[in-house]
Amino acid sequence: MAEWKPRSLLLALCACYALAAPMPAPMGATRREDGSVLVGDILYSSAQWDGLLSKNLDSLEKLWPRENGVVKIPFKISDSKLNGTLLKLGFSAWQSKTCLEFPELTESDTRKEYLNITIQTGCFSGVGYTAGNVTTISIFGDVCGLKGITHEIGHAIGLHHEHSRSDRNDYVIVKMANVEFSSAHNFFTKDTVNFGVPYDYYSIMHYREKGGSASGERVLLAKDARFQDIMGDAP
Ligand SMILES: *[C@@H]1O[C@H](CO)[C@@H](O)[C@H](O)[C@H]1NC(C)=O
Ligand SMILES: *[C@@H]1O[C@H](CO)[C@@H](O)[C@H](O)[C@H]1NC(C)=O
Ligand SMILES: *[C@@H]1O[C@H](CO)[C@@H](O)[C@H](O)[C@H]1NC(C)=O
Repeated sequence: MAEWKPRSLLLALCACYALAAPMPAPMGATRREDGSVLVGDILYSSAQWDGLLSKNLDSLEKLWPRENGVVKIPFKISDSKLNGTLLKLGFSAWQSKTCLEFPELTESDTRKEYLNITIQTGCFSGVGYTAGNVTTISIFGDVCGLKGITHEIGHAIGLHHEHSRSDRNDYVIVKMANVEFSSAHNFFTKDTVNFGVPYDYYSIMHYREKGGSASGERVLLAKDARFQDIMGDAP
């Protein structure tokens, strides 16, 4: 079933968060000046990265707090050149189907946890909530597109790639031989708890069949062939 399931999504919010993946330093990981590590489109703070390596990461800590049934995730645009129209469409994509809300941070709001929307070279995001710190999203001009922005917001709310789920080998065959060297980390499984939420080929957090391909050959083969052409197709 490829339809969007709001209830599943919230469960998936917990489910898709990697609990404690013993993660080797993958090819293509970049340690930045502030100690944070950029792996593909996911930005780990220094502490998060160490947590992953030492298996200390608790998924529940990465969820944005929920009050009265609503999860409010404030955002701040830190670069005036950013296309706010596109950004807000990305937020709407999540907000219209979940109990997540994305209010703009007000001047008087002193909280430390919010989405810091920046323009850096690339489309990437931190994963989930970090007490005492912002979650950085980078939107690189027009490169990311609405779909890319929506995908990065998915990381910011706490989701990893769908095809990294712990049970993904039941659903897809990953042809590692076809994967671009620098993209290999995007195809490692994570030690996620999935709460019985069905695997979602269609998810915006799922790569398409040739995502990360070195030579244009297919990387992801759906075990249920009916899903081959719609992997990652969610708008
Ligand atoms: C917040 O995150 C930034 C960027 O990853 C990092 O440089 C900084 O040390 C973090 N601050 C705290 C208090 O963890
Ligand atoms: C923002 O993006 C939309 C959609 O791509 C586009 O129509 C609009 O012109 C952009 N606005 C600016 C200021 O670039
Ligand atoms: C948010 O991003 C801007 C632009 O990159 C940066 O200057 C600022 O320090 C960031 N804020 C925090 C609290 O990290």
